[in-house]
Amino acid sequence: FTVNQRPDPVSDEDRAAILAKPGFGKFFTDHMVQITWTKDDGWHDAKVTAYGPLQLDPSAAVLHYAQEIFEGMKAYRHADGSVWTFRPEANAGRFARSAARLALPQLPEVDFLASLKALLQVDQAWVPDAGAGEESLYLRPFMFASEAFLGVRPAAKVTYCVIASPAGAYFSGGLKPISLWISKQFSRAGIGGTGSAKCGGNYAASLAAQTEASEHGCDQSVFLDSIEQKWIEELGGMNIFLVYKDGRLVTPALSGSILEGVTRKSILELAKGLDLQPEERRIDIDEWRQGAESGEITEAFACGTAAVVTPVHRLLWDGGEVSFGPSDDAGPVAGRIRQTLLDLQLGKVDDELGWLT
Ligand code: COI
Repeated sequence: FTVNQRPDPVSDEDRAAILAKPGFGKFFTDHMVQITWTKDDGWHDAKVTAYGPLQLDPSAAVLHYAQEIFEGMKAYRHADGSVWTFRPEANAGRFARSAARLALPQLPEVDFLASLKALLQVDQAWVPDAGAGEESLYLRPFMFASEAFLGVRPAAKVTYCVIASPAGAYFSGGLKPISLWISKQFSRAGIGGTGSAKCGGNYAASLAAQTEASEHGCDQSVFLDSIEQKWIEELGGMNIFLVYKDGRLVTPALSGSILEGVTRKSILELAKGLDLQPEERRIDIDEWRQGAESGEITEAFACGTAAVVTPVHRLLWDGGEVSFGPSDDAGPVAGRIRQTLLDLQLGKVDDELGWLT
């Protein structure tokens, strides 16, 4: 990487004010990474430059056909001042799988990891002290078709970037449990589609349902499978877990149209150590509705890099609703899982699994 330090970085004072109350995705650090790929020359011209607008030809393929993928990860500051990322190889692997699905070139894991390190080295002052909360620096690698042409084929020129944004809780209510709307009108993804890839188009497809959810006073919508409209998939920007009173911790099995969340996978791997029985299987939406009503399902939570573990308190649909778990805080299981993850990420317990880099 060539590093061109920005001549006019954000002042220490302004940065401290941002880090004290970052919200999510609103502020960006001083620098960004950019690497170019061309069909003829492969990956080249890796640089760290000032954060700022990109020059893009109006005919750049991404603007027309959405040939784009992204990732999300966080860097955490430990008590001794050191800075760590959580399972970045898992993100590198998923990024490569997303690239394959969107006919984009694969960025080797070593280069993906080096790009994070290059940005963190120049912008390390932007990694917040976690304090009592979950503050971190959210890293957003992304890759898009930058070739200027209007034909429909994989682009011969692609741009990879990494930007970073200080992050607190994803939802404005923090740990306050959220409500979910069951979307019957819209699906997020279908069999053979791009649902398991982390591509912008999936998120665009979720927005109309998100608007519908907001109109019903809900924070997120639950997507069901696109054929039978009964099997729970995900929330569009995060995965979902249900907690049963007998200790089962159930999440929809990866169907090809669900994003393989790194947080989802980590929770499944940690569950046994927390005396929970993890299960990945198909879940009928009626099982959730009826289980919540009968008391068999005691909690539910959303999980993702951005959301960490966010408790769910209400499920609404056209014609009804059911609530479960506490209305003002995480239930005991969601709370325990969230704390276990955060303690690990923030270096408050030993990293016995070697998940931190
Ligand atoms: C993440 O959790 O990193 C995501 O990509 C979700 C997005 C809604 C911020």
